[in-house]
Amino acid sequence: MDYIENIQKLISDKFENPPLANVKTFGCAQNENDSEKIRGLLYNLGYSMTDELSKSDIVIFNTCAIRENAELKIFGNIGELKALKKENPNMIVAVCGCMVMQQHIVDKIKKSYPFVDIVFGVNNLEILPHLIYDCYMEHKKQILNPNEKIDIVENVPILRESKSKASISIMFGCDNFCSYCIVPYVRGRERSRKPQDILNEFKQLISEGYKDITLLGQNVNSYGKNLEEKFDFADLLKLLCTTTGEYVIHFISSHPKDINKKVIDVIRDNPQISRQIHLPVQCGNDRILKEMNRKYTISQYMDIINYAREQIPGVTFSSDIIVGFPGETFEEYLDTEKLVKDVKFTQLFTYIYSKRNGTKAALMEDNISHKEKSEWLNRLIKIQQDIVFEHLNSFIGKTVRALVEEKHGKMYTARMQNTFVVKFESDTDYTDNFVNLKITGKKGTSLTADLLI
Ligand code: SAH
Ligand code: SF4
Ligand code: F3S
Repeated sequence: MDYIENIQKLISDKFENPPLANVKTFGCAQNENDSEKIRGLLYNLGYSMTDELSKSDIVIFNTCAIRENAELKIFGNIGELKALKKENPNMIVAVCGCMVMQQHIVDKIKKSYPFVDIVFGVNNLEILPHLIYDCYMEHKKQILNPNEKIDIVENVPILRESKSKASISIMFGCDNFCSYCIVPYVRGRERSRKPQDILNEFKQLISEGYKDITLLGQNVNSYGKNLEEKFDFADLLKLLCTTTGEYVIHFISSHPKDINKKVIDVIRDNPQISRQIHLPVQCGNDRILKEMNRKYTISQYMDIINYAREQIPGVTFSSDIIVGFPGETFEEYLDTEKLVKDVKFTQLFTYIYSKRNGTKAALMEDNISHKEKSEWLNRLIKIQQDIVFEHLNSFIGKTVRALVEEKHGKMYTARMQNTFVVKFESDTDYTDNFVNLKITGKKGTSLTADLLI
């Protein structure tokens, strides 16, 4: 923080008005959490945030590498900055995040996007002030080698987007090496934060009035494996729930191979924990699961779903699915349809398999056409739509508790624990607070309700 203060002086001398920053996130919740830390650093350096790229003195793209189309979109966006940089040569262009943790991407940026001033990785966000300083002082590009250091740095300042919803990274990296996935290569080995550091951040948020907290990790169920003390994810949930206040705790993502009865029992015993569990299954066929290196079978997956249903009344599940994994046949894909119909997820994130160089699956033969995979995806989306409508209809006439997110005149939008959106009218402003709502009907993919408070 001392260092930041010194640079702040230098930056304020350079600008007449407070300089403006735009930080754009292209990836997942963990990426967004990183962006909030980047904004926190910039804010402490004296920058104000703006949505307008053309007015920005610094633009930072926080990138994602999970699928090829994510990377293509990002390169398109970086390309568009060329014209802006021409108009405003003093603007700093920075690219960070998972995509630039791959050497071939850094090489491509250097070669084809020479107007990029700064490239930095996912594991050392806190060096950004140094990079900005050097960029201004030495008028030299600051392109870091991917992944130089992977310590956990605590107390990085953070500028959060919302006043009621917040996320906490409880761990970093991933050791699971699912055969299709680039994350372990770009985010490095799994590291867990200390329980006390997480508890302090959690308590701070609750004392500031935050009501909806999401714990983040690529596989939260392996939390604690590298800690000195014996302390697992269920212990962490229990510890956080000793905090008094009205809040709901979500966590993403659980891995079906590691979630256990102990975690389900802690959810059962602590009503502050969300009654919707995100449990990515990826596909419904045991042979494909084995090829994916997921280390569970569908029968084991169903065992944990059924145990949770026995223990936690009203529990629901959301999931991720990949269709068209190399070698997957139509019959095997149909097992995924069957699973989706059986479990009836409230929310499903569906993707077509995307080949990621450097992963095991990239070496597997893939002879299904993209057209065919798109057809499978569309079938699955249609099935899931009908299931969501069924879920939405089941709430009509019921009373639910939801967190109010947005206001448009007298109309408000609130979100239930299972992420369903509920719209209602009110004369009082309940934004960022919980309300009780009586569901009256369904409109499109959201619900309508009367306010009970
Ligand atoms: N760690 C989390 C999330 C990982 S990324 C988990 O294991 O659940 C989020 C989702 O992206 C994954 O669950 C998977 O469904 C999807 N995904 C990952 N790699 C992919 C690839 N190569 N092609 C298509 N989808 C992919
Ligand atoms: Fe990727 Fe698997 Fe790790 Fe999730 S658990 S980030 S899918 S390797
Ligand atoms: Fe997230 Fe994309 Fe990285 S999904 S972990 S931002 S590769």
